Amino acid sequence: MQQALEQRLRESLEQFRADGVYKRFNYLDSPQAPRVQMEGRGEIIILSSNNYLGLSAVPEVIAGGHDALNRFGAGTASVRFICGTFTIHRELEQALAGLVGTEAALTFVSCWNANEALFATVLGPEDVVISDQLNHASIIDGIRLAKVIAKCETAVYQHGDLADLDAKLRAHADKRTRLIVTDGVFSMEGDIAPLPDLVALARKHDAVLTVDDSHATGVLGPTGRGTADHYGMVGEVDIITSTLGKALGGAAGGFIASSAATCDYLTQRARPGLFSNALPCTVAGSAHAAVRHLQQHPEMVTRLHENARYFREQLLGLGFRPLPGETPIVPVILGETAKAIRMSEMLLDEGVFVTGFGYPVVPQGQARVRCQVSAAHTRDDLDAALRAFATVGRRLDLV
Ligand SMILES: Cc1ncc(COP(=O)(O)O)c(C=O)c1O
Repeated sequence: MQQALEQRLRESLEQFRADGVYKRFNYLDSPQAPRVQMEGRGEIIILSSNNYLGLSAVPEVIAGGHDALNRFGAGTASVRFICGTFTIHRELEQALAGLVGTEAALTFVSCWNANEALFATVLGPEDVVISDQLNHASIIDGIRLAKVIAKCETAVYQHGDLADLDAKLRAHADKRTRLIVTDGVFSMEGDIAPLPDLVALARKHDAVLTVDDSHATGVLGPTGRGTADHYGMVGEVDIITSTLGKALGGAAGGFIASSAATCDYLTQRARPGLFSNALPCTVAGSAHAAVRHLQQHPEMVTRLHENARYFREQLLGLGFRPLPGETPIVPVILGETAKAIRMSEMLLDEGVFVTGFGYPVVPQGQARVRCQVSAAHTRDDLDAALRAFATVGRRLDLV
């Protein structure tokens, strides 16, 4: 390695440590679950995973992965259009389209990858993409890529601000396609996009609405079909991107769900699909089993909502001020990044794993610990986590 680069990286790493923002991995030696075995620490309660339904360790989901591995082997050894598509990919895509209520779906190795594929492929120099200010990094980077590759225009509207979005849509009335994009559930805030108003604005301006439902698929709505299900609007979102790496088994993988023509066009032209291997069939198998399990057990979604409500109410009762909301993402704002990381370390010492997030993941001065509740948490798990919050909160003079 070139010495100057090595030196620069080492100095930055030292600075991260000095600033208290250095991240380290915590190694788990058991499946992802409400309680895990953490190397060097023993049993720990997890309160920061996206395993919203607890499906990552459900026997049917694990068996789905095993069956696919046995049937198809380790992988495609190719990109899909050359010789790399298995029937399990088609079955999964049909199941995903059925779940979220679109004509078709197309899988990718991650939702990050799906967001990189979407904008750069469907937009061109005559078009504009208008993005919520707090959208996920994968949307931001997907748009940056589209700006370079597709040469489309880009605009950002203030978070959830419909008047600002309306103004930006009017300002781009001359564009061939106006594509609005929003997270369904915002990952750092836990708030839900105002879908009825967004659909109305999209219709008014003849715009296309895209929702990234990564934190909503399997989570929102009475049957976990996502943000549209929450509002009773399944079928009204033009394009949905989402992940298989959270509620739907938690392995990896993502998808774009939309009209048959949109998915077909992406199959023809999206570079991640044309130049990179398909989703591993083990993941396709476990995700397919996860979708089936979700559809057979909607009571998991009800339990998730009950657990989220309980945890939020109890935190308030202890004197914490979590951001208000109705999703299983419950952020507690602390201010400085170092404070959030300190609290997260102290919680870990008390046996609870909750990650602290600081700048640049969230705006400067709004560092937080982000709790994420799962349907798999028992009341005992949640109560034990709440006791740890009370202990640490008192030590840090927060409550
Ligand atoms: C809104 C949103 N989109 C996309 C992603 C990326 O998903 P994946 O892990 O499948 O790349 C995430 C993950 O954190 C997310 O929260």
